[in-house]
Amino acid sequence: MKKIVLLVALLLTFNSGAFAVEGMWIPSLIEMFHSDMKTYGLKLSPEEVYSTNKSSLKDAIVQFNGGCTAEIVSEEGLLFTNHHCGFSAIQSHSSLKNDYLKNGFWAKNKAEELACPWLRVTFVKEIRDVTEAVFKGLTKDIVGAERGKIIMQNIAKLEAAEQSDASISAKIKAFNLGNQFYMLITQDYNDIRLVGAPPSAIGKYGGDTDNWVWPRHTGDFAIFRIYADKDNKSAKHDEVNIPFKPAHFLPISLKPKQEGDFTMVYGFPGSTDQHFASEKLGFYMDVERPARIAMRQASLDLITPAMNNSDEIRIKYASKQARIANAWKKWIGQIGGLKELKALDKKLAWEKEYRAKASEKSDWTRYKNVLTELNRIQKENGIYEYARSLFIEYFYVGPEMLRFAHEFKTLANNYKELEEKGKLKDEIKRLQGKAKGFFKNYDKNLDQQIFNKLTPMYIDFLDDKELLPKGFADSWQKNGDKIYSKSILMNLSQIETLLSKFTEKSCKKLQKDPALMMATELYNGFVTQTNPSYSEFAQQEQALMKIYVEGILTMFPEKKTWADANSTMRIGYGKLEGSAPVDGMKYLHYSTIKGIMQKYDPENPDFQLPARFLELYEKGDWGDYEQDGELWVCFTASNHTTGGNSGSPVIDAEGNLMGINFDRSWESTMSDFMFDESRCRNIVVDARYVLWVIDKYGDAGHLIKEMKLVK
Ligand code: ARG
Ligand code: GLU
Repeated sequence: MKKIVLLVALLLTFNSGAFAVEGMWIPSLIEMFHSDMKTYGLKLSPEEVYSTNKSSLKDAIVQFNGGCTAEIVSEEGLLFTNHHCGFSAIQSHSSLKNDYLKNGFWAKNKAEELACPWLRVTFVKEIRDVTEAVFKGLTKDIVGAERGKIIMQNIAKLEAAEQSDASISAKIKAFNLGNQFYMLITQDYNDIRLVGAPPSAIGKYGGDTDNWVWPRHTGDFAIFRIYADKDNKSAKHDEVNIPFKPAHFLPISLKPKQEGDFTMVYGFPGSTDQHFASEKLGFYMDVERPARIAMRQASLDLITPAMNNSDEIRIKYASKQARIANAWKKWIGQIGGLKELKALDKKLAWEKEYRAKASEKSDWTRYKNVLTELNRIQKENGIYEYARSLFIEYFYVGPEMLRFAHEFKTLANNYKELEEKGKLKDEIKRLQGKAKGFFKNYDKNLDQQIFNKLTPMYIDFLDDKELLPKGFADSWQKNGDKIYSKSILMNLSQIETLLSKFTEKSCKKLQKDPALMMATELYNGFVTQTNPSYSEFAQQEQALMKIYVEGILTMFPEKKTWADANSTMRIGYGKLEGSAPVDGMKYLHYSTIKGIMQKYDPENPDFQLPARFLELYEKGDWGDYEQDGELWVCFTASNHTTGGNSGSPVIDAEGNLMGINFDRSWESTMSDFMFDESRCRNIVVDARYVLWVIDKYGDAGHLIKEMKLVK
């Protein structure tokens, strides 16, 4: 009977057409999942996907500035990533005169490429399992701090032994909540230049309205190039550097696509939390995230209209607004998805199963109470975790005055010490640079409005008002008014004067500055009141999570387990496919340029189009990039992805680039906590649309000549 039920279930999943595969797999373990990828259609050998001694796909894929992913698409180090990943680079080269955000940018030749010396890309040389070496010297009865100490010592030793060449980094990271350890051997390249970007009207088409939503019509791409020294080695930015010669680059597929085609996403997913216990998941869904969403909503209600009313504010706040809005919207989607999926009930049912399993063998008693304990400490300490989240949201995402003023803390408090150690000059220089950068993108008036709106919310949300600095709840408004009208730190020229001749007297003045005083009071309050209790809880939790996940790995060996994302290189695989997450409708697996026109609305800043685009659309010349008379713009696939996978190549069965990953659908954002095969879809901009924009809109055919196109 059981077998028949299983068979029917299997047939049903097959018939529903869902092919999604949960998991973000570690490339060096390719032998473990290669045969499954083959059943999905992959034609490459394991060595062609990942190898340490031959060139493989991995050599064409880099982490972009520590966050996003990018891929090399030419022999001359040309890089594709997302427009939103290159956004701050594009913004920093933009001004009212050269508004590259608005108008786009296309370097006509290499000399016109724009240096971005603050950017870096990271290559992965090797991913090595070092679990055994990290656990060396541990026995069952070494626990707690002692255990941690031995692990740290082992890690330090192993990392040091590998650190040969200065440009190479060897770092060991924990996987599966500390049950496994891998060494990541990586190499940074630091001369990265901006080569091309479409106007935001293409690269961010749909803006926040369409963000996290399918159907989608965003041309979310930007082009950079890696430069190296004459020996192809990593070097600081220098005019004499030459384009980097990669060990591998991705050919670009112009082939027609269809639903069911194999897709692989190769990149650097940031973080997922599949193992949250029920109490924590509930806390996130009902308490923590709703408060943060409300605070972001309040900021956005002030920032967005201000941007729409002023070009100057628009350029200044574009990046900040995008960052605040992005997580805000994702969180709303996640909570909705988790509720719809009855995620909490599922967790509770699973926890019951886990507990029951743990009773089966006497060896497993250590797993028996671990979930009860995890849920108990969460209940008891949630208040500190909440206070910490609120502080982070308020201090680091809220009014910028606070974190900017806080930058001056060291100078104000350690002036003497800095001078004695000969470090004063450096600190002053750092602050001069900071101040310049800060005021370039700052509007005091707007920030004050944010301060006035967010501060009472922050106070209100805190359950335990004792965690606030004494008197803050009554004095913030008065002090705030004083800060925004009088503080030196709210005025660039006053800061410059102060820093240009910094004496003991200036130090006294700085110490008494109301902005710095408020920032310090809040920060110190957090460090002394909230953080110690939170840290203690976090440590307990970490130890329990290690055991809990160990239990999953030990007691459920048949379960297809994968390690949570941790910003290391991973592979996700699945198929090009649509979905039907909402009753009464079905999402197609692709969108076309026709949809861009359907959404076009000159009155709505999210859906404007440049005249040139409208002309090209009228012409209808899709060149080699069309499929059955249509120009695909985006498509969806069933790869398990998360933040950090932006810019990741979506690769076909033969190793060619099909498109650039940039988002997930609204209904699937909860995959960071719980994956659902029938609805989780990543959103990809089709490589053919990217080439069409470069070719026809950007008139930058010279870039396409560099690439290898496969028909
Ligand atoms: N949601 C995508 C990601 O998480 C794109 C974000 C950029 N776009 C935006 N409209 N804010 O990064
Ligand atoms: N846009 C996200 C990023 O910047 C990727 C979307 C996701 O979270 O899946 O990495």
